Amino acid sequence: MKIALGCDHGGLSLKAEVVKLLLELGHVVADQGCHSDESVDYPDFARAVCAQVQNGSCERGILICGTGVGMSMAANRFEGIRAGLGNELFTARMSREHNDANVLCLGARVIGPGLAGEIVRSWVSTEFAGGRHQRRIDMF
Ligand code: RB5
Repeated sequence: MKIALGCDHGGLSLKAEVVKLLLELGHVVADQGCHSDESVDYPDFARAVCAQVQNGSCERGILICGTGVGMSMAANRFEGIRAGLGNELFTARMSREHNDANVLCLGARVIGPGLAGEIVRSWVSTEFAGGRHQRRIDMF
């Protein structure tokens, strides 16, 4: 699967870990930055990742900031984007199974690389359950 990745300065080091993991799992990564720890504005990177998902270049996206909150707020402003804040395993998995999340948001100041790795593994491999969940998604 091709996955767009983006972060702000708060998510830079966790993004590197997530890129490494995704490549090990055989995925293709489109890294939209940022690429240094200079302070940047997370909506710019949310926009870049969501554009990749919206135009079909990438099937899904992962956004990382300090908490994941700003990225999830920004990402959900874009048409067709269903971004879920997934700082723990159950919510992240259910965001795929019940909400067909196409963007995962993580908080690098909230979770460590070990948990983030488990979350990403689960999120990329969990299928959407469809059925009544599709009906609910069609309502917004
Ligand atoms: C940046 O300092 C921080 O505000 C940002 O990474 C994020 O946590 C916003 O939601």
